[in-house]
Amino acid sequence: MTTQAIAVITGGSSGIGAATARLFASRAYSVAILDVNRDRGEKMAAALSAGGTARFYDCDVSDAKAVDAVAARVEKDLGPAEVLVTSAGLIPNTESIMDMDMEAHDRMWRVNYNGTIHACRSFGRQMIARKRGAIVTLGSINSLLPLPLPAYNPGKAAIARLTQLLAVELGRHGIRVNSVGPTYVMTETLQARVDAGLRDVNKIMSVHALDTLPSPEDIATAIAFLCSAEARTITGVLLPVDSGWLAGVSYKTYAGGVPWKE
Ligand SMILES: NC(=O)c1ccc[n+]([C@@H]2O[C@H](COP(=O)([O-])OP(=O)(O)OC[C@H]3O[C@@H](n4cnc5c(N)ncnc54)[C@H](O)[C@@H]3O)[C@@H](O)[C@H]2O)c1
Repeated sequence: MTTQAIAVITGGSSGIGAATARLFASRAYSVAILDVNRDRGEKMAAALSAGGTARFYDCDVSDAKAVDAVAARVEKDLGPAEVLVTSAGLIPNTESIMDMDMEAHDRMWRVNYNGTIHACRSFGRQMIARKRGAIVTLGSINSLLPLPLPAYNPGKAAIARLTQLLAVELGRHGIRVNSVGPTYVMTETLQARVDAGLRDVNKIMSVHALDTLPSPEDIATAIAFLCSAEARTITGVLLPVDSGWLAGVSYKTYAGGVPWKE
């Protein structure tokens, strides 16, 4: 067991979770990466271990018993979780409710929504025992407005509400629970969709206030802020990290046009 604070990152093998694991490791946390991608996760943990302690745990977050078992192992190996970031998730493509595959729909909920609850329960209990901790769930701009991703979109809205429920339930134990809501972040997973013609970069850029999208590191920085002492009275919020998407998506599609030439 280490004496350092422990950060648990689900989905830490790649993308936003990997950037978050790197950031917490650079801030002297021991990092536990829970993911189904063993190959990448083990490489990440090995790279992070050069500067401290990092371990990979092969764990499918959709399996409540597996998450519980891994939480017990993390506590034994490293210590109780101080930080939990739930970044494990599946990212879909546009589809209609009438035509979607219900098995894929249910799988999306099991990983994205149930996986978030499972991690919050298993590691939240460790935090309750110590009366301290911070949890950040991965929401999305999908938490805020409808987009044609009928399993993913309502799931992210549900994660925002779950975050509020947990904030109240765990607040009396000194635990804060918040969410981040990224806009499009060009992780390898999303870049592959762009390359396959499944996302239109021009359309994406046309509705943001800023002309730059957040990087995985920008999301990690927002997560680290929400977990820090500077955010000690912030709980139950969804922090959009969206380059002005929420402000721009209605403004820039106004039927009367924008008051400057684009
Ligand atoms: N990239 C974006 O544009 C974007 C925007 C908003 C929100 N998000 C959210 O951020 C999170 C991370 O997205 P990303 O872009 O980094 O994706 P990513 O594909 O790079 O990372 C997701 C990770 O989750 C892991 N994972 C998948 N299923 C799992 C399971 N059942 N158990 C454990 N691990 C599992 C994957 O192996 C992968 O390492 C997701 O929740 C996603 O919805 C992403």
